[in-house]
Amino acid sequence: AGATQREFAGALRARSLLAAPMRAGGKQAGAIVVTDPSPRTYSREEITALQTLATDAAVCLASAHLLEDLAQSNDEMRSAREQAVQSESLAAIGRLSASIAHEFRNPLAGISAAAQALLKVSDRDPGNVQLLQIIDRESKRLNRLITDFLQFARPRQPALRRVTVSALVEGLLPSLAQELADRVRIERIYAPDVPAANADGDLVRLVLMQLLVNAIQAMPDGGLIRIRVAAVPLRGLPAVEISIEDTGPGLPPADLGRVFEPFFSTKKTGTGLGLAICHQIISAHRGTIAVQNVPGGGARFVLVLPGVRSGSAPPAIGP
Ligand SMILES: Nc1ncnc2c1ncn2[C@@H]1O[C@H](COP(=O)(O)OP(=O)(O)O)[C@@H](O)[C@H]1O
Ligand SMILES: [Mg+2]
Repeated sequence: AGATQREFAGALRARSLLAAPMRAGGKQAGAIVVTDPSPRTYSREEITALQTLATDAAVCLASAHLLEDLAQSNDEMRSAREQAVQSESLAAIGRLSASIAHEFRNPLAGISAAAQALLKVSDRDPGNVQLLQIIDRESKRLNRLITDFLQFARPRQPALRRVTVSALVEGLLPSLAQELADRVRIERIYAPDVPAANADGDLVRLVLMQLLVNAIQAMPDGGLIRIRVAAVPLRGLPAVEISIEDTGPGLPPADLGRVFEPFFSTKKTGTGLGLAICHQIISAHRGTIAVQNVPGGGARFVLVLPGVRSGSAPPAIGP
């Protein structure tokens, strides 16, 4: 080692140099080097002292690494366990909801159809009509609940097509007429030159329905829903922004970070799955969804969907 040592000493502008390897557990972790600008020899005690120091340092270093590894594998284990629990309970929910849907869907459709048929031929006794309307409404609500569970527990990959968002919005509004009653007005603002979204129209419709129903439910005494569609960039590429804003009470600040969690609901009969489904669907589109309170009250949900890049998606089939 004489030549290397002399070279090293030269680089350090040292005339003498003493080095001790930091070795622990059969591994070399480095070395401790002591230099002196003047030529000298080192005593046995000095050499032993430096060797002891280097060994101690190596042991310390090795323990620190061990601790770090331990902490990391601990973290990994914890998140793996959490994931296992989550995917296991998700799978359980999936199986459960599939069987619920099987058992409930058909009789529900029968109940709803029977109520509707009776409504058509009914003797116009206001009491009977009202009861039939309740049967019809509640069976539809149950049907929606089941649909939510199924959608959440067994999400499907989006089938991407060219979707004109404003047309999609216009198309779904009639189906909300009953929920809107005469209490809630809907205002639409479509910016010019909005690109088509590269999206699954059925899934986006589902998201918008969830957001609109939430907005309606947030305004039992009526109000205004503003739907805005505009062009925005997303990761530097053309995208479509859809914002849905209501004039309800908005969200308590503590809830803002939780509303997308599955099963988070502040409603008596809520499933807490609506926004979790929205989040799932928009993420599967590589889009974004966020919520904020509008100054002066009301909630605003903003989602961004990637736009169609020229030639990247086939044209939509049908309307
Ligand atoms: N427009 C809104 N205004 C106020 N709060 C809202 C709005 N939309 C959602 N929330 C809150 O987020 C919660 C979760 O919504 P969601 O996932 O759709 O479940 P659910 O509607 O079944 O409660 C609601 O219970 C409500 O507290
Ligand atoms: Mg909801």
